[in-house]
Amino acid sequence: MEQRKLVTVLFCDLVGSTELAGVLEPETLRSVVLRYFDMARQEIKAHGGTVEKFIGDAVMAVFGVPVVHEDDARRAATAALDMIASLAELNAELETSVGCRLAVRIGVNTGEVVTTTEEGANQNLIAGEVVNVAARLEQHAGAGEILIGPVTRALLGGSAVVEEVGELSLKGKRDPVTAFRLLGIRPDTQHEAESPFVGRERELALLDAAFARPDGQPVTVSGEAGIGKTRLLREWLSAKEDALIGTGRCHPYCDRASLMPLAHALRRILDAAASFGLLTEELVSEPSYGVLRSGLLLDGAPGHSASSTYAAIAAVLARLAAARPVVLVLDDMHWAEPMLIDGITQIANAQRAHRVLLVCSGRPDHARTLPGRAVNLTPLSEVDATRLAAGLVELQSHGQPTLARVIDRAEGNPLYLEQLVAMLDDGADLEQQLPVTVTAVLAARIDALRPDERMFLDAAAVVGREFDVRTVEALAESGAVAALAELTRRGLVEPVSGQTYRFRSGLLREVTYQGISKRRRAQWHEELAPGSAGHHLEQAYLYRQGLGIRDDHTAALRGKAARALTEAARNAMARADLSWSENLGKRAIAYSTKDDPWWTEAAQGLGETWLAVGRTAEGSELLRDVMATAAATGDNLAYAHARLQVDSHSQTGWWFPAADTAREALPEFEAAGDQLGLARGYVRLAQEQQFLGSHRTAEQLLEQALRHAEAANAAPEHAMALGALGISLWHGPIPAADAVRRCRQLLATREHDVAIVTLNYPLANLLALQGLEDEARACLATADRFATGLGFAEAAVLAPLFAAGVEALAGRLPAAQRLLREAVQLCRAAGDPRLVATASRDLARVLLRQGVCPEPELLGPADASGLPPEQAADHLGAHARTEAAKGNAAMALSLAERAVAESLATDSPITRAITQLDLAIACRAAGHRATARNAAVRAVTWFDGKGHSVGARTATEFMDAL
Ligand SMILES: Nc1ncnc2c1ncn2[C@@H]1O[C@H](COP(=O)(O)OP(=O)(O)OP(=O)(O)O)[C@@H](O)[C@H]1O
Ligand SMILES: [Mg+2]
Repeated sequence: MEQRKLVTVLFCDLVGSTELAGVLEPETLRSVVLRYFDMARQEIKAHGGTVEKFIGDAVMAVFGVPVVHEDDARRAATAALDMIASLAELNAELETSVGCRLAVRIGVNTGEVVTTTEEGANQNLIAGEVVNVAARLEQHAGAGEILIGPVTRALLGGSAVVEEVGELSLKGKRDPVTAFRLLGIRPDTQHEAESPFVGRERELALLDAAFARPDGQPVTVSGEAGIGKTRLLREWLSAKEDALIGTGRCHPYCDRASLMPLAHALRRILDAAASFGLLTEELVSEPSYGVLRSGLLLDGAPGHSASSTYAAIAAVLARLAAARPVVLVLDDMHWAEPMLIDGITQIANAQRAHRVLLVCSGRPDHARTLPGRAVNLTPLSEVDATRLAAGLVELQSHGQPTLARVIDRAEGNPLYLEQLVAMLDDGADLEQQLPVTVTAVLAARIDALRPDERMFLDAAAVVGREFDVRTVEALAESGAVAALAELTRRGLVEPVSGQTYRFRSGLLREVTYQGISKRRRAQWHEELAPGSAGHHLEQAYLYRQGLGIRDDHTAALRGKAARALTEAARNAMARADLSWSENLGKRAIAYSTKDDPWWTEAAQGLGETWLAVGRTAEGSELLRDVMATAAATGDNLAYAHARLQVDSHSQTGWWFPAADTAREALPEFEAAGDQLGLARGYVRLAQEQQFLGSHRTAEQLLEQALRHAEAANAAPEHAMALGALGISLWHGPIPAADAVRRCRQLLATREHDVAIVTLNYPLANLLALQGLEDEARACLATADRFATGLGFAEAAVLAPLFAAGVEALAGRLPAAQRLLREAVQLCRAAGDPRLVATASRDLARVLLRQGVCPEPELLGPADASGLPPEQAADHLGAHARTEAAKGNAAMALSLAERAVAESLATDSPITRAITQLDLAIACRAAGHRATARNAAVRAVTWFDGKGHSVGARTATEFMDAL
């Protein structure tokens, strides 16, 4: 199986070997070179690297094959430093024996390679850019110098002592490479400036409890890499100033003896004891102390016998504990030798009665469970993670959304969080890249798997974060039971329910996925394609394309992918998931050209989505392209759809341009049985009736639209029809109480959240006009809550307009005024003159009610020609009031009379009542008290008929004040 992995390549070459050849006898030269090779090979092996080949006098080694380690870069760097050091020793010898010195130069570079695990194949055949760059770095290095590449440098992190060499233009590479001179590696106990410690209160308390009452049982802190075991212990220990503390760590390689970490910890405890003056003559002359000094403390190996060493440790610790509590910590126990694990158990058993606490810590993917009581570290809570992130970025200025994404992605693992934030600082694209440090840690865990387990995990990664076991089984063509058990035990995956499992972290899935060869990814994605939302076809196409496979199969995949994505985009739109629909639609278009037969459909979907999210210009342009293409190919249905959408969003003229278009298109939709088209067509016809003020007719048309939208299963159209119906129930002749009941009924049957938004706004106004202010506010709040995140441009524009209606009815005029100013702005920005006029008239009326004359631009000229009746009535009425306020009684009267005449052409009792009130005000201004009274009486009647108690009260008060 081919795999992609991150490896570190080391090149080491002799400097000036031609001169050597000139001075040394060939046989001597050969033996000298062989000594150098030997030395190099030993150092590479000691650090877990593999010698790939010898080229002339150069050695090439790879760290990361056959198995990746999380610290491969560090291993390679240490090997390089040790080679230079060993060469100095070798030179001292050569100087005396043959009278010559050798010098080497070294290049180290890390990068992705493709390897194969196929039986019989040359497993270690490593080639590619990473190798070339390593070789070039080596050639640029001076004698005795080590040059490392940027990824190696990043992986070494704070532990590397380096000098930046600058950018090198390397032969055969287009972009220059930033190289660093490696001077040394700091021991891993040193820490750089750290982020402030967060959370972990429970774990600290558990450790405290164990410290206060040691019962001979060790405590084991366990958790996955980077979760914070080491940091937790450091934090906890820093508060234990009185205790004798010793920490030892296990290493993945190069611990020269099994008990070295224990020896290390013990030495620290004795040092601490010495500093407290506890290493008395008496203690030092104890036999147990002697056992340790001649064995364990000397070389980390049990001198006489293991059990006598453990007994001696127990005895010495017990002696010390009489004076001060003792804490012995062994970190990174997942790398411990089995002997050390047994040792801990034995020492602990001998400790029962003393103030000695043994603490181990390690990752759970170790084959053996660690002894003692477990303190399991789980991911940081979101609150803690957010605090940590805030601490990490204190000095930088990242936007909140990026930071939220980082927190999301790290899933509570502080190491990942740190690394992702650091990557942000470098300006990297979070979605495209993972920090190499994270990749290295996770890749090592994955690479330690057996081939069948690895295959299963790889297949699962192609399926997704969550996967169905049977689907993965079919892909991987291998049994799942054993693999799943092991993967679960290692904490890589976890069960969700039934046959569904998931990767423990999203990053783990990503790293697993990155390790799969592109050819394999293409193949598996294609196998998964049936029944998927286009994603797998798209990936299969992209990988084949990326690999340069330009055959018919790849071409066919492009079409399949585009069609599947178009279909998925349409489904997303039908669920009113606008952002997902836009995402899918853009991808579909990316794999289509205008010559492709599927282009029209893809473009139509994306164009409609753009209109819905408020990208009107782009959406209309794309749909106009669709109209042109559809006209050329004779696709009448596509043409009708595109035109209806374009016209519905075109903002010229008073009349609803889309109504005529709808009338033309409906027979086309009817003939094709196109439910979506029918739903849209009827909504437009209904809106035209609403403008005319014929709400009963509008209602009937909307009932029809609703039925079609239901049949089409289209949430946006359904919600649009419901919202429009709400408006007619509000403005139309049905009494408010009945209208509210009908709205609530409709809400109960709605199938999607959008309808909650579109219906609750008119409902709020229906409640407010009955004086039910609290209920009205509750509806507004619900609508606002559901509107956030939906992304419908129209809802955002309408929200303040509806809210202002409620405020005005509740008599909170300044609030209404503020909302209406906002509404006017928003409607202007949306480029909708009809809505701008509505909002402006409402604003003018609110100003007048507060005794303020509206600015002339707000209402425009007092000319209603061309306006539909409901608009005309409202427009003339608002002008009448303005003139009355200015004292132009005659003008006010004539305008009000025209307003009343227009209102009679509508079936809206509210419009009729309001124009009567406008007339009453004009009459009063003209001193005609009796006519004013009659008009007010008619207003009360209309208001009462509607159940508009707020209006009826206003009109009555007006009469009383006459
Ligand atoms: N509670 C915490 N508050 C702040 N930073 C933390 C916290 N826990 C961990 N970190 C930081 O996250 C990084 C990883 O933590 P740490 O090295 O302790 O992980 P670990 O569990 O010991 O990993 P490994 O298994 O690789 O040894 C460190 O830089 C550490 O400072
Ligand atoms: Mg650690």
